[in-house]
Amino acid sequence: MFSALVILGVITRSALVSSSVSGVDYNDLFKQISSGCSTSGPASCHNTTQETDLCCFEAPGGVLLQTQLWDTDPSTGPSNSWTIHGLWPDHCDSTFSENCDSTRDYTNITDLLQDQGADDTLSFMQEYWVDINGQNEQFWEHEWSTHGACYSTLKPSCLPSGSPKGAEAVAFFQAVVTLFKACLIHMALCACAYAAGITPSTSKTYSLSTLTDALKNATGVTPALNCAGSSLSSIQWYFNLKGSLIDGEFVAIDATSNGSCKSSSIKYPPEVGRILFHDHVGWLMTDVQPAGSLPSAGTIHASTAGGLLSAGTWSTQTLATYHFSGSASSFTMTTSKGSCGVSDGKLACGSGVSSSTFSAVVSESNLLLAYAGSTDFSSDDTPSGSTQEMVYTGSSHSKTFTLNIISS
Ligand SMILES: *[C@@H]1O[C@H](CO)[C@@H](O)[C@H](O)[C@H]1NC(C)=O
Ligand SMILES: *[C@@H]1O[C@H](CO)[C@@H](O)[C@H](O)[C@H]1NC(C)=O
Ligand SMILES: *[C@@H]1O[C@H](CO)[C@@H](O)[C@H](O)[C@H]1NC(C)=O
Ligand SMILES: *[C@@H]1O[C@H](CO)[C@@H](O)[C@H](O)[C@H]1NC(C)=O
Repeated sequence: MFSALVILGVITRSALVSSSVSGVDYNDLFKQISSGCSTSGPASCHNTTQETDLCCFEAPGGVLLQTQLWDTDPSTGPSNSWTIHGLWPDHCDSTFSENCDSTRDYTNITDLLQDQGADDTLSFMQEYWVDINGQNEQFWEHEWSTHGACYSTLKPSCLPSGSPKGAEAVAFFQAVVTLFKACLIHMALCACAYAAGITPSTSKTYSLSTLTDALKNATGVTPALNCAGSSLSSIQWYFNLKGSLIDGEFVAIDATSNGSCKSSSIKYPPEVGRILFHDHVGWLMTDVQPAGSLPSAGTIHASTAGGLLSAGTWSTQTLATYHFSGSASSFTMTTSKGSCGVSDGKLACGSGVSSSTFSAVVSESNLLLAYAGSTDFSSDDTPSGSTQEMVYTGSSHSKTFTLNIISS
């Protein structure tokens, strides 16, 4: 299981924020309450001793199961996007609890979210968390009371004092939306089904292993696939949690149970022809390209000027050829100087450099280099003429840019 952690990394809010995908309004992420919990301890279900502070360690429901729906009949949500079903806290042994606290069966989730300033979360839910019969309120109320109220880290006693009634349910809806957005943005990291380049079709069928192998290849982890009859109808991605659901980190893991699809002849019926996210709330409008289209060699161009030389430095001179090995979600790079790695936050390629693992994120028509989930890189100055600048990961130095991989 922990190999998945290494390959996929973790999804954190800071990784989301540092992503340079344009047009995304992250403001609502900051309206959240804070748990005060650390994320440096073990992930849920990975503790070796008894955890006592269950406000900061999710138990017993430490396997978080995110289900995405592919509704075609009738079709719900935006054309050709998967939609949210929920985020359920299964126990580490695949059993689960439901309906954990009827005193917190909140109704009128719309009002609750609006009253607590989570309008952006609500708008997103109205588009991507939709009931097949149009009963969104009932659907959200059900997801909260059946599953949400079971999270140990969302007990009212875990909240900062003075939190309004229902603040933990608001935090639940925000967490579910944040994780789903992460799946949409970081296709290569968390990936929804289309990340694997498997496209909807009325005639083609796929074997279960074709689908799961491709998804594993694209994301590093295996989801569970459910079918209605012979058609793919939902996909379940599994996570462990570090810290609190309020503001912790999701660690993607392999599915802990099999879905309902048979082993062969699975249909993936189309909604419409292309993948498009609508922009209602300052949200992302872009065609999403399948990840996994990492070239074997290419040059790396900075968004502002120039690009990378063979030592991993930034310059406006003739760019070096980089060789990539692995898939877009996890690869290593070499140049004529040697392996490329990050040490002390600094990128370098050379004979004594130990390789680091990178990923590539599709953003509009670019394939952006990412390190530890972030596509931001920075330097102290912009190079010109024959100068070369050190490249640092993240945006801590004064000139920030992204790095676009161009196939050669
Ligand atoms: C992990 O912590 C939970 C919650 O306290 C506990 O139930 C479980 O037994 C612990 N696991 C181990 C291996 O100690
Ligand atoms: C939620 O409450 C508002 C007023 O506070 C009301 O107008 C609305 O009809 C309620 N919605 C539902 C589904 O009960
Ligand atoms: C896995 O990814 C590699 C590199 O992107 C690709 O060559 C290979 O065909 C993929 N395998 C599957 C099963 O999708
Ligand atoms: C899922 O099914 C496969 C093949 O039938 C089996 O080998 C595997 O153990 C199952 N996995 C789980 C988690 O049940």
